[in-house]
Amino acid sequence: MTPKLSPALVLDPVSGLGSRDVSVRPAGPGEVEIEVRAAGVCHSDLHVVTGDWPTDRPLVLGHEAAGVVTSVGDGVTSVRAGDHVVLSWFAPCRRCRRCVAGEAWLCTGTKAVANMLPDGTTAFADDQGEPVWPYLGLGAFTERLVVPEVAAVKVPDELPFSIGALLGCSVTTGIGAVVNTAGVRPGESAVVIGTGGVGLSVVMGLRLVGADPVIAVDLSPERLAAARRFGATHTLDGNTADVAAWCQDELGGVDHAFEAIGSPKVISTLPAMLTSGGAAVLVGMAATGATATFDPFDLADQGKRILGCNYGSSIGEIDIPKLARLYLSGRLPLDDLIGRTRPLSEAADALDDLRSNTGVRTILEP
Ligand SMILES: NC(=O)c1ccc[n+]([C@@H]2O[C@H](COP(=O)([O-])OP(=O)(O)OC[C@H]3O[C@@H](n4cnc5c(N)ncnc54)[C@H](O)[C@@H]3O)[C@@H](O)[C@H]2O)c1
Ligand SMILES: [Zn+2]
Ligand SMILES: [Zn+2]
Repeated sequence: MTPKLSPALVLDPVSGLGSRDVSVRPAGPGEVEIEVRAAGVCHSDLHVVTGDWPTDRPLVLGHEAAGVVTSVGDGVTSVRAGDHVVLSWFAPCRRCRRCVAGEAWLCTGTKAVANMLPDGTTAFADDQGEPVWPYLGLGAFTERLVVPEVAAVKVPDELPFSIGALLGCSVTTGIGAVVNTAGVRPGESAVVIGTGGVGLSVVMGLRLVGADPVIAVDLSPERLAAARRFGATHTLDGNTADVAAWCQDELGGVDHAFEAIGSPKVISTLPAMLTSGGAAVLVGMAATGATATFDPFDLADQGKRILGCNYGSSIGEIDIPKLARLYLSGRLPLDDLIGRTRPLSEAADALDDLRSNTGVRTILEP
């Protein structure tokens, strides 16, 4: 039987970005087949397209998505056909020391970041039968995919798929950065630099925990206006403001400084924004091999900290359903994060929306 082909947005190291027809093999033991209903376009997709994170193999892009389970392989117990799921891109191995210690976001056994399924293979092939690999273990800019059970997190049926998609990456990362990585407490102060999908989720998380004041910094007036709606008490234009001087002059330094761009230049300025004992939280992901600098005396003398933040230090199975419930009870204004909705055939244009800061998140619907 000829396998069914579906269009996918593929980044090929030789021929570049383009639509390609791919087949997906059935779910094997411990795997789940999913029909994608909505996929968000995150800057981590753009990082591979621009070459910040080089790839040596063709990838189906897309890692922020939600859909419906169509079938499950042997041994799968946590989901069944018909369930609505959010895809979690950092599929932990559940066996390494970090996983066993309950720190799944630090898993050392995952193959997801190497753009593979846990067994080192891919479920996708092109029309010539050649392998095409799942970006971050998912590859969601297509109609159907196969993922390990741990990457398919069941959510309530009433959760809109577009919102579920955002829970797959930006929202879980941004809110998790506040709640899990930094452990921000009510009344603590914070600055957030870069207010795209991830940075605005940081702002939302700060409002959720009662941080105050919350200063948002971006280059785009639209993004700063959005940050105000999401709970920023102050906004600064990153083109002109000396953010560190402002934080020191107005507040004597902030308790937390979140970077949600991935710019080594901006990251280097974070420690100077902090009060003693404060923490800089690196949420944005820089290009492979980039370096940032800081003043080590100031760090040691003032007890300042720099915290790395992968996936909001979150555990998909625990944090994604929790955030879904907060949305459904009206505590998270996630509808405001959604900009344009486009058909999958416009996936390449959706990456341009991201480049040009059009809307906050563009959602692709197969
Ligand atoms: N830590 C994680 O696990 C994780 C998860 C998802 C995304 N990310 C990373 O987070 C970063 C942001 O992702 P996103 O999807 O929100 O991107 P985005 O493109 O939607 O937002 C980036 C924002 O930064 C602003 N910006 C750019 N340069 C700036 C500057 N010099 N000063 C102030 N603002 C500036 C832009 O105007 C834009 O609003 C990316 O690096 C992405 O790879 C990390
Ligand atoms: Zn992402
Ligand atoms: Zn692990």
